[in-house]
Amino acid sequence: MAEPALSGRQSAVPAAATMTAAARARAMRAQGRDVISLTLGEPDFASPPHAVQAAHEAALRGETKYPPVNGTPGLRHAVRAKFERESGLVFSDAEILVGHGARQIIYDALTATLDAGDEVVVPAPFWNAYPLIAAMAGAQPVFVACAAADGFLPDPDAIARAITSRTKWLVLNYPNNPTGAVCTAERLRAIAEILRRSPHVWVMSDDMYEHLIHDGTPNPTLAAVAPDLAPRVLTISGVSKTYAMTGWRVGFAGGPARLIGAMTKVQGQSTGGVSPVAQAAAQAALEGPQDMVGVMRAAYAARSRRVVAAMRDVPGLACRAPAGAFYLFVDVAGMIGRTSAGGCRIDSDEAFCSALLEEAGVAVVHGAAFGASPYMRLSTAADDAALHAACARIAAFCASSV
Ligand SMILES: Cc1ncc(COP(=O)(O)O)c(C=O)c1O
Repeated sequence: MAEPALSGRQSAVPAAATMTAAARARAMRAQGRDVISLTLGEPDFASPPHAVQAAHEAALRGETKYPPVNGTPGLRHAVRAKFERESGLVFSDAEILVGHGARQIIYDALTATLDAGDEVVVPAPFWNAYPLIAAMAGAQPVFVACAAADGFLPDPDAIARAITSRTKWLVLNYPNNPTGAVCTAERLRAIAEILRRSPHVWVMSDDMYEHLIHDGTPNPTLAAVAPDLAPRVLTISGVSKTYAMTGWRVGFAGGPARLIGAMTKVQGQSTGGVSPVAQAAAQAALEGPQDMVGVMRAAYAARSRRVVAAMRDVPGLACRAPAGAFYLFVDVAGMIGRTSAGGCRIDSDEAFCSALLEEAGVAVVHGAAFGASPYMRLSTAADDAALHAACARIAAFCASSV
């Protein structure tokens, strides 16, 4: 008998490798295996106490009803103030949307704009959600390879060559997941020049890691660098990474009212508004003391320096020092062609990561999942002891692979 069918569109989209790797590590741990998971970009700090307190008070006040789809007035106001204070971007209330994490904002934006056959230009390496969400909307991701020697930044001419009449979006994400690259204002200006010649293209500036630039310098963002493009730029951020609030599921964006309106329609029919309790917490995080942000940034920077040094000491691995975020994108080219002590032939970064997990109990994500091989991405948003142990295991695994 025929089974009920799934949609062709979603069947064609692979599972996210980041989530698969994290789930595999979790399952191995549940079986009693000793696994250190450096798969997800999940801050290991607690959410700010004043944010937790604000959520508690909101719940006690009875803010437990359906919220407006686009966000509570209080959080929308705080988001507008944040964009103006931190980036000089001035938005009206109709130009702000609060969603269930930045991930939903991205989903809303792509779903609201893409038709089958449209193209989304994504510089590679990339956070894997962009091509996966674009594919779910029936569109075609078009990758622009960014050279490690150029700091993993996109070449404006390569972006120009990738743009066609079908291009709907260019995605920019700095500081970048997975490379930690930070884009200079100068490079953004050159990209803006290309975009002026392509008025049919929306631009997504995903600034999730904006506060996690290791030396504390401010993050240049496209809408501020090229204000004339603002009518087609969607600037995205959230509380997950900046304030260690991943589980509250609050992200937000500022952009043109026409786009925000369409995105709100998508969100209204998928999830509706974000829990008002979580929005109260996010508002408190944005409006409250900011000292914790600097403390976390310094901790991520120190860990990053230590793990970069440890990876550089391993024959077969090469590692650039990232300028921001909390990932290392480690070049494993020197390991390709070897055989692990457990007998696994390392013929790709996926094989390397799989053997590393099975034989050394360290879970990381292979570079191919982010559009560049052979690399592994490891998250440094883990405590010092876990990072120290993971580095020792990686070194021993590589040394015993011949
Ligand atoms: C570049 C980037 N954008 C957005 C997100 C999603 O964040 P949120 O927790 O707000 O959905 C992530 C999460 O890993 C990310 O790396």
